[in-house]
Amino acid sequence: MVGHRKTTATGGSLLLTARYGDGYKRAQMPAASSSSGAGRAAERHQKPSGPAAGIPAAELFVGAGGLALGLEAAGFETVLAVEIDRDACDTISALMPKIDLRQASVEAIDFRRYRRKLCLLSGGPPCQPYSIGGKQEGRDDERDFMPEFIRAVEEAEPAAFLLENVPGLALGDNASYFKRLIARFAGLGYSVTWRIINAADYGVPQKRRRLFVVGLRNGEFRFPEPTHGDEATRPHVPAGSVLRADAVIGDANKSIVVYAKNPDPRPSPYDGHLFNGGGRPIDLTKPSPTILAAAGGNKTHFIDTCGLVPEYHRHLMAGGAPKTGTLPGGRRLTVQESALVQTFPEGMRFAGSRSSQYTQIGNAVPPKLAAILASAVARALRSRE
Ligand SMILES: C[S@@+](CC[C@H](N)C(=O)[O-])C[C@H]1O[C@@H](n2cnc3c(N)ncnc32)[C@H](O)[C@@H]1O
Repeated sequence: MVGHRKTTATGGSLLLTARYGDGYKRAQMPAASSSSGAGRAAERHQKPSGPAAGIPAAELFVGAGGLALGLEAAGFETVLAVEIDRDACDTISALMPKIDLRQASVEAIDFRRYRRKLCLLSGGPPCQPYSIGGKQEGRDDERDFMPEFIRAVEEAEPAAFLLENVPGLALGDNASYFKRLIARFAGLGYSVTWRIINAADYGVPQKRRRLFVVGLRNGEFRFPEPTHGDEATRPHVPAGSVLRADAVIGDANKSIVVYAKNPDPRPSPYDGHLFNGGGRPIDLTKPSPTILAAAGGNKTHFIDTCGLVPEYHRHLMAGGAPKTGTLPGGRRLTVQESALVQTFPEGMRFAGSRSSQYTQIGNAVPPKLAAILASAVARALRSRE
């Protein structure tokens, strides 16, 4: 499994040549807002020129590159990316053909070679050990790669690190483990700041709560404040800014939507479980529910194209009997629509089977949020110069 896919590292010296490939040039970041076409064009993602222009970065567990795209949008130059999954590597190879991408386990990489050569080390280790949906075995789970992330920081000694994971890493039974992780980073000389962030509060058309941990060797990091929602000046960006009930984007998802045998209604028709599986109806006037890595089948959110969900919800709340069969007009999101809700560039291609593509998309940090955080990290790094 260990291997170089594309390399720009020669004789131990790093060539800072991370650039978007043709795949990216074709694919532009969607504005993810309800603004006009002209407004969208103005908000579109540009080639590296942001506050991080020219700052070398490495990304572990790169997946389909949600976080990596955000870093590059802020201007970081990705000199190394590590990912074990072949499909995700194929996605990255097409997107960023010139980066040094290793299809390998992070465990196989000796980061001492990068000592003091990286300004930023980032990554979102697999989150199953800490997910609410999982068994929450945390550090006892063999998929716990936090020690590997710490080793990478210890060996490479980057000026900053950015770690992403599910909120469960910092909460409940894992809280004391998380405290020790923070203490480890502090012991390595980093000032550490962390926050649980909802992507919707930063203009992403999706509710997605994730934990971000930033460490700086010099100085202190401050998270950017929310720009959208009740606490901010702009309203949340609705799912309807990138999705349409009357137009399928990409290849249709054939998974049908079936009424649940034992529905569990909540005050809103769009919460609770009224249908089989984990996929929820999307209220196009609000941010979408979290796009799941397990999507593809009945865990894929859907659009209620005939507008029957509110009426069915009222029926249940009034004590009506659950219906059986298929919800007429229930249409699950396609791969491409899921990617748009995640703010991946319009038209971006994902490698592998349909289910692998949904997984890569559901695993990702929304590039739009990643770009905002990466710009803030870059400003913190620049302010020390
Ligand atoms: C949560 S996803 C990362 C998503 C990515 N940050 C993004 O924004 O698109 C975790 C990734 O770690 C990869 N992975 C799992 N074990 C790994 C290992 N031992 N070494 C490298 N990558 C690994 C998985 O294949 C998956 O793509």
